[in-house]
Amino acid sequence: MDCVYVDNLTRTFNGIYALRGISFKVDCGGSIALIGPNGAGKTTTLRILAGLLRPDSGVVRICGYDPFNEADRAKACIGYLPEDAVPFLNLTVRENLEYVAILRRLGDVRGVVNEILRLLDIEDIANKVVASLSRGNRQRVAIAMAIIHKPKVLLLDEPLNYLDIPTQERVIEIFRDLNRAGTTIIVSTHIMSIAERIARDALIMNKGSIVWRGSINELNSIAKSSGKTIEEVIVKLLENSAG
Ligand SMILES: Nc1ncnc2c1ncn2[C@@H]1O[C@H](COP(=O)(O)OP(=O)(O)OP(=O)(O)O)[C@@H](O)[C@H]1O
Ligand SMILES: [Mg+2]
Repeated sequence: MDCVYVDNLTRTFNGIYALRGISFKVDCGGSIALIGPNGAGKTTTLRILAGLLRPDSGVVRICGYDPFNEADRAKACIGYLPEDAVPFLNLTVRENLEYVAILRRLGDVRGVVNEILRLLDIEDIANKVVASLSRGNRQRVAIAMAIIHKPKVLLLDEPLNYLDIPTQERVIEIFRDLNRAGTTIIVSTHIMSIAERIARDALIMNKGSIVWRGSINELNSIAKSSGKTIEEVIVKLLENSAG
């Protein structure tokens, strides 16, 4: 089954195309990285999938549900980490997590919150208000909020921004564990080394269109056989797509 289905999606801002009719599917349990230059349309795609931005036209299904006409069911199915996510600043870390756990109707709120605090290694800051935290620690809290309910589909927009190296490693492992347990992952990133560790497939976007879709292994083979780095291969694909 497709957990994410997108057909001929378009979106404009002030008459300018951010998405020019993109189509793709992700199998349940799959993982795909959205890769592309600034302004390619990655965040716009994720915001539409999360049901936060209406497309001008096209079809979207998340776990089989329309994120706009069946919003409750679609939202119950996803976890979303926005670009530059900001938790409620005047609540503590624990209060933010309790709030999400209650909204998500999770039983044993205290137990679930303690478990996610442990998983992200943020027990020591649990009682601090988010406004007092460093940017990296805010990002850790935002990640905890996005995954507290072990979503069926996880939408991640530049998830490792601001994180120190040990935390990046920990978070990558958490995402991989979720994916192994069946969570479908869509992750936008500019960093190929991160894309290949979180995702199996790549969707390369440029100026609102999909330029290439395939496995990251395939990209690596193309790179190897042409004596280039994977980044150089992507730049070439982007140049070719620009005509
Ligand atoms: N709220 C908005 N108002 C006007 N234009 C917007 C808005 N959001 C996005 N855009 C435009 O849509 C296009 C796609 O933007 P988007 O944020 O999806 O790109 P991106 O691939 O996520 O880029 P980045 O790598 O910089 O995060 C850009 O041209 C951007 O300027
Ligand atoms: Mg973006």
